[in-house]
Amino acid sequence: MRKARPRQPKITDKTRVGIIGLGYVGLPLALAFAKAGLEVLGVDIQQRRVDRVNKGQSYIADVDSKVLTETVREGLLEATTDQSRLKEVDAICICVPTPLTKTKDPELSYVISESEVVSRYLQKGQLVVLESTTYPGTTREVMLPILERSGLKAGRDFYLAFSPERIDPGSKNYNVRNTPKVVGGIDLKSTELATLLYSQIVEKVVPVSSPEVAEMTKVFENVFRNVNIALVNELTLLCEKMKISVWEVIDAAATKPFGYMPFYPGPGIGGHCIPLDPYYLANKAREFDFHTRFIELAADINEHMPYYVVSRILDAMNSRGKSLHGARVLVLGVAYKRDVEDVRESPSLKLIELLSEKGANVSYNDPYVESVRISQKNLRSVELTDEELASADCVAIATDHSCYDFRNIAQKANLVFDTRGATRKLRNKNIVRL
Ligand SMILES: NC(=O)c1ccc[n+]([C@@H]2O[C@H](COP(=O)([O-])OP(=O)(O)OC[C@H]3O[C@@H](n4cnc5c(N)ncnc54)[C@H](O)[C@@H]3O)[C@@H](O)[C@H]2O)c1
Repeated sequence: MRKARPRQPKITDKTRVGIIGLGYVGLPLALAFAKAGLEVLGVDIQQRRVDRVNKGQSYIADVDSKVLTETVREGLLEATTDQSRLKEVDAICICVPTPLTKTKDPELSYVISESEVVSRYLQKGQLVVLESTTYPGTTREVMLPILERSGLKAGRDFYLAFSPERIDPGSKNYNVRNTPKVVGGIDLKSTELATLLYSQIVEKVVPVSSPEVAEMTKVFENVFRNVNIALVNELTLLCEKMKISVWEVIDAAATKPFGYMPFYPGPGIGGHCIPLDPYYLANKAREFDFHTRFIELAADINEHMPYYVVSRILDAMNSRGKSLHGARVLVLGVAYKRDVEDVRESPSLKLIELLSEKGANVSYNDPYVESVRISQKNLRSVELTDEELASADCVAIATDHSCYDFRNIAQKANLVFDTRGATRKLRNKNIVRL
C-alpha cells in the first residue's frame, strides 16, 4: 500500500478500498475492486485467510487462485489482520457475518464489534458501507452511533451507506459486475459517494433514498425466495398424496412466459442467507407489534422438509420390506446447493442427523466437501464407486451437483431417493422422488 495521503471526501478510480471480512462476499468484492485497478486492503481476523490471500491461494470456489495471485503480485490487493491500517483507505466495505443465535434472533455482534473497530480508526472523509445482510435500521440505529463515538459526525466528517451483497455462489451467469447493486446512504452525499464507488465495478448501481430501503430490499429478496420455496414444498406434499409428479407440474408451469417463475422443492433450505435473513425481518417487525405471518409459515414448512424426506425414505424402504434401522444410507451432496462447497445451514446435515437418529448407518459423498461435523462426529466423504452405490440400501440425492452421473447412480443403486428432481428424466423403478 502507498503511504497515507490527505483525506478527500471523493471517490475516484484512485480510491483505496478496505474490505472487512474476506469470506464468500468480501473476497470476490475485494478482487472486483482490485481488478478495476483500485488499491484494496483486505482485513480479516483469521490469520490463515490473510496469509492465503497474500500468497494468492483462494479458499472460495468462485475466486480463481490464478487471478488472485496476479492481483496480489501487481500490488493491487493486500490482506492484513491489522485493523489499524483501515486509516489508510478512503472507503470501507464491511462484509462480516450476520448469523442467528440458537433461538433464531439476529446476532449482530460481528457488525457491532467491527463498527467499534472502524470507529477507533475512522478518518475524516472516509466512506463506510455495510454490505452484511441485516434488518432495516441497522446502519442508522446501530452503526451510526458507534461510528460517531469517534468524535466525527456522519454526513459531515464521514459518509455512511448500506449496500447489500447479492452474490450468487456457484453461478455461471451472474457475478459482481453484471449484478445490479442497490445503494442507500444516510444522506444524499453518502448515497452519491457509495454510488460512485460501486460504479467502478458494477455495470448498474441503483441508488435508493435511504439505508432502510436498501436493507429492506435485501431481506425482501430473500424472503421472496424463502416463501416461494415453501409454497412449492407444500405443493410437493399435496402432489405426493394425489400421485401427481410435482416436477412435471413445475416444468409445465415454467413454459408460461409471463407471471410465473419456477421454484423447486428440496430437502430444506440452506446457505448463509435464505434460512437466516427472514428471521432478521420477523424479529424487527415485532418491535412494531407486527407479525410477519408469511415468514413464520415459510419457515415452518421449509424446516419440516428434512423430517418429511426421512419419513418418505422410511416408507420407500418399508415398501421394499426393509427397515431404516441398521440400513446403509448413502447421502449424495452435503453442500447446501449445487456446485458449491458451502455447508452452512445445509439441509443435508439435518438429513444425516435424522437418519442416524433412526438407526441408519449413514455415509456421504460430496466432491466439494471432504469432511463435515455432525452431532459431535466427523464424517468424511466416501468415494463414489459403483460398489459403494450397490452396497447402499438407499442412495439419497440431497444436492444435485452437476458432476454426478445420475443415470449411472440410478442403475447401480438398489433404491434412489431423489429430493432434487435430478432424475426426473429417467425411468427406473428404483427411483423414488420427492
Ligand atoms: N454467502 C453468500 O452467498 C451471501 C450472499 C449475499 C449476502 N451475504 C451476506 O454477507 C455477509 C457475509 O457473509 P459471508 O458468506 O461472506 O460470510 P463468511 O463467513 O464467508 O465471511 C465472513 C468473514 O468475516 C471475517 N470476520 C468475522 N469477524 C470479523 C471482524 N470483526 N473483522 C474482520 N473480519 C471478520 C471472518 O473471518 C470471515 O472470513 C453476511 O451478512 C451474509 O448474510 C452472503
